[in-house]
Amino acid sequence: MPRRKDFLGRGRYGVVHGTRKYAIKQIDDEDVFHAEVDAYRSLNKVRSLRGRIPILHGIDPDKQLLYLQHINKPTLQQKLPDEPTLRQIRQRVLETISIIHECGWCHGDINLGNIFASGLLFDFSHAHPKNKLSAQAWEDFQKKDRRDTKSYCLQAVGLKKLEAAIALLDSGVDGLPRQAELAELLHHSKSSPELALLGYPVIRARHCTTEYPRAPNP
Ligand SMILES: Nc1ncnc2c1ncn2[C@@H]1O[C@H](COP(=O)(O)OP(=O)(O)O)[C@@H](O)[C@H]1O
Ligand SMILES: [Mg+2]
Repeated sequence: MPRRKDFLGRGRYGVVHGTRKYAIKQIDDEDVFHAEVDAYRSLNKVRSLRGRIPILHGIDPDKQLLYLQHINKPTLQQKLPDEPTLRQIRQRVLETISIIHECGWCHGDINLGNIFASGLLFDFSHAHPKNKLSAQAWEDFQKKDRRDTKSYCLQAVGLKKLEAAIALLDSGVDGLPRQAELAELLHHSKSSPELALLGYPVIRARHCTTEYPRAPNP
């Protein structure tokens, strides 16, 4: 009897199904399939990357399937952890990409959808080995990996503050302490325009210079 497979996600090049042990990633594009297999095979040999990227257990070259270690955690795109955890994850991913770069690979596609909430970095379908790049392209790819790690985590911290601001707005912002709390959240998330888009009209607080939104009329 075939083992039950659950749908885990769909990406740019195919679909990922899961069994208890494996995440089975099918990739339509032959070049992308081989690039990801090469990256995992090379990086899985590096002891210091254990626990930082999934293990590739095997492949089916005919069906272009990768049998990856199944990670039972949401991605940062599916669920945002609290802010201190996000900062820890950012630090961990920065260390991971620095090891990956030392090993002569760049990731090429760092975003919230390619990082698990445990801090594991995955999806090497855009990875490039240093030996196939010009010196300039190699420099650029390394910079892009570092920049993307910082900017996506920063964006996630902003989203977290936006979530907190919405919760505060929905529960009412009467009283100076709550208004000050909201002003502080908005100052750091720079989210007033986003809140205005969500229908929270922007008004100016009486007690400070920061503009803040108030809850829309029901
Ligand atoms: N090893 C894994 N364990 C658990 N889920 C996974 C694993 N790999 C991928 N997934 C799920 O499948 C989705 C798509 O996988 P990903 O490798 O990012 O594909 P793509 O290259 O198409 O973006 C991910 O967002 C995640 O939800
Ligand atoms: Mg992906």
